[in-house]
Amino acid sequence: MILPSQRHLFDIPRDVCYLNAAYMTPLTKAQQEIGAVSAAQNGRPWEVFPEDFNPTSDKIRNHAASMFNVRADDIAIIPSVSYGIATAGKNLIIEAGSNVLVIEDQFPSNIYEWQENAKAAGGAIVTVPTPEDHDWTSAILEALDHPGAAYSIVALPQVHWSSGALIDLVKVSKACRKLGAALVLDLTQSAGAMPTDIAEIDPDFAVFGTYKWLMGPYSLCFMYVAPRQQEGQPLEQNWLARKDSEDFAGLVNYQDSYQPGARRFDMGERSNFILSPICVEGLRQLQEWGVGNIADTLQAINTRLCETAAECGFNAVPDQFRSPHMLGLYVGSKGRDLLASLKDAGVFASLRGEMLRVAPHLWIDDHDMDVFEVAMRSV
Ligand SMILES: Cc1ncc(COP(=O)(O)O)c(C=O)c1O
Repeated sequence: MILPSQRHLFDIPRDVCYLNAAYMTPLTKAQQEIGAVSAAQNGRPWEVFPEDFNPTSDKIRNHAASMFNVRADDIAIIPSVSYGIATAGKNLIIEAGSNVLVIEDQFPSNIYEWQENAKAAGGAIVTVPTPEDHDWTSAILEALDHPGAAYSIVALPQVHWSSGALIDLVKVSKACRKLGAALVLDLTQSAGAMPTDIAEIDPDFAVFGTYKWLMGPYSLCFMYVAPRQQEGQPLEQNWLARKDSEDFAGLVNYQDSYQPGARRFDMGERSNFILSPICVEGLRQLQEWGVGNIADTLQAINTRLCETAAECGFNAVPDQFRSPHMLGLYVGSKGRDLLASLKDAGVFASLRGEMLRVAPHLWIDDHDMDVFEVAMRSV
């Protein structure tokens, strides 16, 4: 279903055409109000009780579980994507002589950990080069199927963060299982903008940054951990993640065991009283709109933006390999000038390599489309 513009829910000035959801989504007016209330509550710590440390975190886990078709118990709350990938890195072994597979120009939070670990294990990072036809899925499957291929870990996104090209993770996951390789996902540029069924993909770890398409606040992320990995080691030894931590009077009865499921992987201070309610409201709003409806609507908006760009001589990844929500336009060496001219016209996008990355959301309306068209034609 195509949704009408939701601009009225955001505080976006009329002269701003914000096509940069892949960089950071604005908090809604409701989230800003909730944030002001939760900050004010922190001015009265005598009203914050031990029983307040879990309910908002549980709401985040519940929303994540229903959006991604997993159990709330499988969700850990973490501060950043790199933290989640480091947790995966601490728990997954790179066998001697085996490698880690990534794709070209992948976001660094899902690269650096593997570079370090591969070096320490005597393995290597194998990078799948950008396929000319943008069919990443076939290129990755071919690499995994290559005679003599030895991979311990396959570390991927669902959507390339600069081109918006899609990867079929269900197919990739099947190939990983055949090889005995663990699958680690950074879903920051797809979760919330297009339907993602984690139960069907069945990764070992999947990390979700929230401040883009999941409409959360910066510094609050979550991570799916497959039940088969839930006996693993957390990155830090955080007291809230230990058994019986609800009993503040008994915290020095040190516990060897953890809270159930993926909670052992929670970051310290995950109760974050200011950011958590903002995060919950963002997830609630997404579920009210419906992720399928968001994808349909963003696809319709992007189709129009793509046509305008093509008329101006800038092409995107072909339709069949493109995500519904993000558009990478090849601008070559003209990128910096183009970005600056668009900004002068009130149009905000990002430059990533040779791609102008255009990422609208539901605040976009017909006026924004006209502003984009006039700005593109004038440059
Ligand atoms: C694909 C992707 N992953 C992760 C991040 C952010 O990572 P971190 O939370 O480690 O700063 C970004 C930010 O642009 C991103 O585009």
